Amino acid sequence: MTTADDTPFLDLRNLHVRYGAADSSPAVRIDQLTLLRGQFLGLAGESGAGKTTAGLTVLGLTRHAGARVTGSIRLAGEELVSAPERRLRQLRGTTMALIPQNPAAAFSPVLPVGTTVLRALRLHGCTRAEARRRATAALERVGLPAEHLTRFPHQLSGGQLQRVAIALASALRTRLLIADEPTSALDVTVQAEICALLAELRDAHGTAVLFISHDLALLAGLCDRIAVLHHGQVIEDRPAAELIAAPRADCTRRLLAAVPRPGTPATPGPRDGRDEEAAGA
Ligand SMILES: Nc1ncnc2c1ncn2[C@@H]1O[C@H](COP(=O)(O)OP(=O)(O)O)[C@@H](O)[C@H]1O
Ligand SMILES: [Mg+2]
Repeated sequence: MTTADDTPFLDLRNLHVRYGAADSSPAVRIDQLTLLRGQFLGLAGESGAGKTTAGLTVLGLTRHAGARVTGSIRLAGEELVSAPERRLRQLRGTTMALIPQNPAAAFSPVLPVGTTVLRALRLHGCTRAEARRRATAALERVGLPAEHLTRFPHQLSGGQLQRVAIALASALRTRLLIADEPTSALDVTVQAEICALLAELRDAHGTAVLFISHDLALLAGLCDRIAVLHHGQVIEDRPAAELIAAPRADCTRRLLAAVPRPGTPATPGPRDGRDEEAAGA
């Protein structure tokens, strides 16, 4: 589903992210990448392509790793590259949020998950009663009984924790979710459930989702569009079905070839294609 509003909700222009010196080669150099409200955009690429760096940079989190960020990131028209940390902190959690690969990273190991959820809701202006009501409703929407709020992270499975993280995003009415390989630590059936929940969240709140994965088959089933990153650059950005049916770049073909098919032995995961790519794409 895409909405009638075709102004980009997220608009990256000339975005360069460097971990090293100003003249080092950038981990990300995106000329342009846009995401509409309610759109599911897949961000694919081999290991080391810059997917996580791109996602964390949108959230304003690569600054903390000492990265230099230049160019423009506009979220609903607001420039984030030059925004003060205080503003980014406000936006993270309400307007935009991360669903990380390892859901345990989103929760304190020493607190019941409900405490983390209620604190986040309180921090963003809910009264105690409202926070409790929203947390319970959101948990039920992702198929977990409310008593799971009293559990500690280690008492929940990876899939359950990922559900709680999605429930929190839903309770906060997050408008942009950056999901960074959110299912790669989960088994296949749970993977499908988590993807379905993200799609429901999009349908319920018009949440835009940037879904990062090296798994093109997974992205194809979920996304409106897929952008492929290679050495930090977008080398293909097309409607998902088109890209899968007729990949243009060598790197995209390699990612497709790495998708395990039923009945065939799993092929090794995608590798960093730094050397072989020179001739292609
Ligand atoms: N915190 C960091 N400090 C320095 N270099 C980093 C850091 N994070 C990532 N990189 C480098 O940036 C490049 C892109 O990495 P990453 O964004 O993690 O790629 P992906 O998520 O596609 O695997 C890689 O060369 C990686 O080594
Ligand atoms: Mg990554």
